[in-house]
Parts: sequence; structure tokens; C-alpha cells
Amino acid sequence: PKTSAFSTVFQPGRVAVITGAAGGIGRATAEFCATRGMKLVLADFNESALLAAADAITAQHGTEIVAVPTDVSQRAAVERLCNSAYERFGEVDFLMNNAGRSGDGGLFGDPAMWDAILGVNLWGVIHGVQAFAPRMMAAGKPTIIVNTGSKQGITQPPGNTAYNLSKAGVKAVTEALAHELRSSAGCQVQAHLLVPGFTFTGMTRAPTDAKPAGAWTPDEVVAFMAERMEAGDFYIMCPDNDVTRDLDNARMLWSAMDVTENRPPLSR
Ligand code: NAI
Repeated sequence: PKTSAFSTVFQPGRVAVITGAAGGIGRATAEFCATRGMKLVLADFNESALLAAADAITAQHGTEIVAVPTDVSQRAAVERLCNSAYERFGEVDFLMNNAGRSGDGGLFGDPAMWDAILGVNLWGVIHGVQAFAPRMMAAGKPTIIVNTGSKQGITQPPGNTAYNLSKAGVKAVTEALAHELRSSAGCQVQAHLLVPGFTFTGMTRAPTDAKPAGAWTPDEVVAFMAERMEAGDFYIMCPDNDVTRDLDNARMLWSAMDVTENRPPLSR
């Protein structure tokens, strides 16, 4: 049977750490956690937007929030973020390695741009996993780590090769993490790969753009993620349930995430 950590993690007083929390999917996830009464540690390298988001969420929900300006591509910064979370709240129940960026990372593009994209999207997730996961594993209670990948990391459409590669790497890191969690006795951390399709956020829109038909809103992505986590039925689930090798399940999820082909019904 699938057992999900969802119902114990998303509870009042539990602690959520979210990177890339100043906007888009990260911000929507922070709002979701706030409505659940969780305490928040929010990280982003856009300091002014981060502080504005933290103020707005506190004003609306009365949430206890620590905002930590962080460049996730820098290992020392992510270690500082981790230390801040544990110093302030003593525990971490939900970690979302979500910060990401796009950019012109074509196959023959500027190597500096490749470094920048891989630095945030891939190294950012690696730093987050390496800093937080050992402490979460040692806590011996049900907790959840979500890494934000992308459908492009799976389908590899031509064009932004650096981005596609970074997101394929996030999938690899998440699979490796899932394996570690499964094979570590007493560990109750569950790892998930979030695979958003096209979502209407700061990354994909100009300020004056209208939402294209079929695009997801960040809230819809979060509702989808929460629904799947709650059902214990997400892309990668461990330690007691591994859908990674379940190709039917994976195919179903990937096609469900393809907004142009087949949108899943959202129950919230
Ligand atoms: P967004 O641009 O609204 O949010 C990304 C956040 O990451 C921003 O607040 C940005 O300041 C922050 N960030 C960028 N570089 C950073 C760094 N070095 N350190 C810390 N924070 C940094 O975009 P969105 O769409 O919410 O992106 C969230 C995640 O979802 C990203 O990983 C993105 O690749 C992924 N994604 C987005 C899709 C979309 O269609 N919008 C589709 C698939 C995946």
C-alpha cells in the first residue's frame, strides 16, 4: 500500500523551506503551505521580491517566515540557508528545490550562459539535496523533498539545450536521492520530482502578456502537486513505493502534464 507523508508534513507548525519563492510556482507553494499553518523559510536571489512576498504572506496568513536571500548556485549560500532554517525552527519537514532560470542556452550558445543555467537549475538542486537531505534523513520522521524538474528535461525538445540538460540532471539527482532514501534504514523522507508543463509565470511571460489558453497557473501546478502527494502517487515516491520504474504511471503523468494534449482534471 502507498503511504504518503503528506498528511503529517502539511500541518500547522511544521516547517517548509522553498527556494525560488519570490514568484511563480515557488511563491504559490509558499502560499499553500501558509494556508496550512506551516512555518516558512523562503529563499530567492531576488531580495526585494523575496521580502515583498514574505511580507504579503505574513500579512495575509500571520505566518512565521524567515526570508533568506540566497543564490542557490553557490554552495556556501545554500549551506547558510540550511543552517538558518535549523537554527530558527530546529527542523525541516518540507524542502522544495525550485529556483530556476531560463536563458539562451542553445547547443552552440555562450558557455557563460550554459554555466549560469546549469549553476542555478542543476547545481542549485544538488546543493539543496546535499545540504538538507542528510539532516532530514537523520530526523527519522516523515518528511518530503520536491525537486522542480521540467517536462523539457524528459522530452528534450530542440532549442534550449542547457535548460533541457539541467532538468534532465534534476531528474537524475532525484532518482539517486530516491535510491538513497529507500536503502537507508529508518529513513522516512520521500522524494518527488515535480514535472510542470507550460506554466504562466515570470519565467514565461512578459508583464503585459495574457495567459495563453491551456497554460497552467502556478496555483494549478501546486494543486496538482498536492493532490498527487496526498494520494501517495507522484512521479518518484519512496521509501516504500517506487513508481519510477512503473512506466505506465510515468507515461500517464507525462501526458497528463502536457497541457496541449491532455489536461488532468483538477479537484481543487
Ligand atoms: P519564476 O521566474 O516565477 O520563479 C523562479 C524563481 O527563482 C524567481 O523568483 C527567481 O528570482 C528565482 N531564482 C532564479 N535564479 C536564482 C538563484 N540563483 N538563486 C535563488 N533563486 C533564484 O518561474 P517559475 O516558472 O515559477 O519557475 C519555478 C521552477 O519551475 C523553475 O525551476 C523552472 O525551471 C520550473 N519550470 C517552470 C515552467 C514554466 O512553464 N514556468 C515549466 C517547467 C518547469
